[in-house]
Amino acid sequence: MWLSVALVSVVVVIFILKYVLSGSGPNPFDRDTREPLKKMVLDKKEKNKVLKQGFVASKVPDNLDAIIIGSGIGGLGLGVLLAKVGKKVLILEQHDRAGGCCHTFTEKGFEFDVGIHYIGDLLEHKPFRCMLDQLTNGQLQWEPLENPFDQVVLGPPENRRCYPIYSGRNRFPDELKKCFPGEEKAIDEYMRLVKKAGRGIWLLAMLKQCPVPIAKLLVYTGLVKHLSFFFKMAPRSLTEVVNELTENKDLRAVFSYIFGTYGNMPKDASFSMHSLLVTHYLNGAWYPKGGASEIAYHMIPIIEKAGGAVLVRAPVNRILFNDAKEACGVSVMKGQEEIHIHAPMVISNAGIFNTYQKLLPKELQAMPAIQKQLGMMKNGEGGLSVFLGLNGTKEELGLKADNYWIFTENNFDELVENYLNGNREESAKNVPLLFVASPSAKDPTWEERSPGKSTLSLVSFANYKWFEEWKDDKVTNRGADYKELKQIFINSVLEVVMGVFPKITRDKIEYVDCGTPITNTHYIGAPKGEIYGADHGIARFSPELSATVRPQTPLKNLYLTGQDVFLCGFAGGLAGALTCGSAILNRNLHLDAINLAKKRKFQSDKCKNE
Ligand SMILES: Cc1cc2nc3c(=O)[nH]c(=O)nc-3n(C[C@H](O)[C@H](O)[C@H](O)COP(=O)(O)OP(=O)(O)OC[C@H]3O[C@@H](n4cnc5c(N)ncnc54)[C@H](O)[C@@H]3O)c2cc1C
Ligand SMILES: *[C@@H]1O[C@H](CO)[C@@H](O)[C@H](O)[C@H]1NC(C)=O
Repeated sequence: MWLSVALVSVVVVIFILKYVLSGSGPNPFDRDTREPLKKMVLDKKEKNKVLKQGFVASKVPDNLDAIIIGSGIGGLGLGVLLAKVGKKVLILEQHDRAGGCCHTFTEKGFEFDVGIHYIGDLLEHKPFRCMLDQLTNGQLQWEPLENPFDQVVLGPPENRRCYPIYSGRNRFPDELKKCFPGEEKAIDEYMRLVKKAGRGIWLLAMLKQCPVPIAKLLVYTGLVKHLSFFFKMAPRSLTEVVNELTENKDLRAVFSYIFGTYGNMPKDASFSMHSLLVTHYLNGAWYPKGGASEIAYHMIPIIEKAGGAVLVRAPVNRILFNDAKEACGVSVMKGQEEIHIHAPMVISNAGIFNTYQKLLPKELQAMPAIQKQLGMMKNGEGGLSVFLGLNGTKEELGLKADNYWIFTENNFDELVENYLNGNREESAKNVPLLFVASPSAKDPTWEERSPGKSTLSLVSFANYKWFEEWKDDKVTNRGADYKELKQIFINSVLEVVMGVFPKITRDKIEYVDCGTPITNTHYIGAPKGEIYGADHGIARFSPELSATVRPQTPLKNLYLTGQDVFLCGFAGGLAGALTCGSAILNRNLHLDAINLAKKRKFQSDKCKNE
C-alpha cells in the first residue's frame, strides 16, 4: 500500500516538475509586445472596417495553419496566441460582427454591450492583466468600477435592504462585518474557504493539459482531492457550505449573490466555482474603456498581421474530415452554397454542443468517446436581457460605475426554482432576480460619443422552453404573441428598476427591447439560449469531467477552445484559449504568462528605484 502511494507520488512530482518547467514549442509571451498607446478610434464606421469584414472566398488567405470557428474571446484569444508565434489563422464568425459575447450593437443611437459588465483580477502586473496587454499589444485600456462595485439589494419594495460589496482583500470582509455585527467569525471562515478553494484552480488547468494517463492517475486514485482544496470543495453546494457558517438569512444571501455570474442557484452551485468568482473580484472590478467592442477591435489586427483573417457572416455548417477521420477543414454556408476551406487544424469556439451535435458527421458524432463527453455536460440556463436607452446623463439619472443585484427575497434557492419552473406568463410578471448596470456610466469615453444619453442593461435568467415555439421564426419577425410576452418581462423588470433608481422615469426611456434565450441562439450561437454556455453545476467539477473535456477532442486535428472547455466568463473563456494554445503549441502558456508578468513587474520596480 505505502509502496504504491510512494510510487504514485514520485510520478506526480516528476510530472509536476515537467509541467512547471515545460516548454518545447514557441512562446507567444516570450517578450513584451506592448506598443505606445495610439489615439483611440471612436468612429463606428472606422471600427466596423475591422469588426465587420464579410466572408467571401477571395478573402480567405492561402496556406492556413488553422481555422477557428467562432470569434468570442475563446476564439480571438487563441487566434492572437497562434498569430504571435507566426501562425496564419482564419476565424469564421456566423454573426455579422466579430466578438461573440464581447460584441456590441447600436439601436436608435445607443450602443449596447452584450456580455461584458465587469471583469476582475486586472491589477497592473497581475498575470491576467499582463496577458490581456499582450493580446492587444497594450492598446486595450481598463477603467476601474466604483468601490463598492456591487450593491446587493434584498427584499420587497416596502422592505429593501442594500448591502454594498467592496473589493480589497481586507476591505471586502471588513465592510461585510460592518453590515453584519456579530457575524465576524462566519465572515472570516467564509473568506478562508473561498480563498483556499480559489487558489486550488491550478489543478483544473493541469488536468486539462497533462498527458491523459497522468490525469487518469490523479483522478482515479483520488489524489486530486488531496492536492487541491478546489476539488475537495467542488462536490459541496454553495447552500450547504453557507448554511453551516451562519443562521443569518441576509448574510447567507450576501455570501451567495454572485451565483448570477455563472448561473446555478446556490443549492446546485459548486462551492469551488463560487469561490473562483468571489476571488476574481477581490482585487477590484474593471470595464473596457470604449466599450466591449474594443476587445475584438484590438485583437483582430494582430491576427491579420501574421497573414490571418477574421471574417463574419460565415456560418460553419460542418467540419470536414479525411478518410483517416482527421479534421481537415470546414464548410461555410454562403447563401445556399457550401464553400470548403482547408487547414491542417480546426479549432471550435462554438461550444461543445454546437461542435459535437451540429458540426460533426453523424458517424463521428456517434463515437463512444464523443458521446461520453456529451453525456457529462448539460446545457446551461437561458439568459434574458433588457436594453434601455435613456435621455439624460449619468448625473441626471443617478447612475454610477457599479452593478446592482436585486432580489425580491433572500431565499435564493426557492426564488429561482419557482421562477424558472413556473408558468411563463406568471414568471414574466414577477422576475425575482435582476442584475442592473449602466455600461455608459462605466465608460469615460461615453460622454464624447453620446452626449446627454445613457444606457442601462438588465440581465436575468429565463427558461428556454418558454420561447422555444418561436425559435425557427425569422429573428425580425417572430409575431405579436412573442412581442407581447417580451413586453410582460419588460414591464415587470422596469418596475423593479424604477423602484431602485427613482430618477429613471418612463419619459426618460427612448429605447427599450428585450433579448430572450432565442435571441442568444441567433446572435451568439447559444443552442439553448445559454447565457454562460454549458452548465456549471456540481457535476461540471467532477475530476473525471475536468480531465476528460479538454482541448484535444477524440478526433485528430480537432480542438475545442472557449468557455465550455474551461469555465465561463471572460476570464474563463480566455483560460480556455490559453489551455487550447498550450495543447497546440506544446507548452504551458499559463506559466508563460505568469513568467512574463513577473519580468514586467521586476523591470517596472527597477525603473521606480533608479
Ligand atoms: C448577458 C451576459 C452578461 C455577461 N456578463 C459578463 C461579465 O460581466 N463578466 C464576465 O467576465 N463575463 C460575462 N459574461 C460571460 C462571458 O461573456 C462569456 O462567458 C465569454 O465571453 C464566452 O466566450 P466564448 O469565446 O467561450 O464564447 P462566445 O463569446 O459565445 O463565442 C462563441 C462564438 O461562436 C460563434 N459561433 C457559434 N456557432 C458558429 C458556427 N457554426 N459558425 C461560426 N460561428 C459560430 C458565435 O456566434 C459566437 O460569436 C456574460 C455573458 C452574457 C451572455
Ligand atoms: C431629452 O430631454 C430634454 C430635457 O431634459 C428634452 O429637451 C429633449 O427633448 C429630450 N429628448 C428626447 C429625444 O426625448
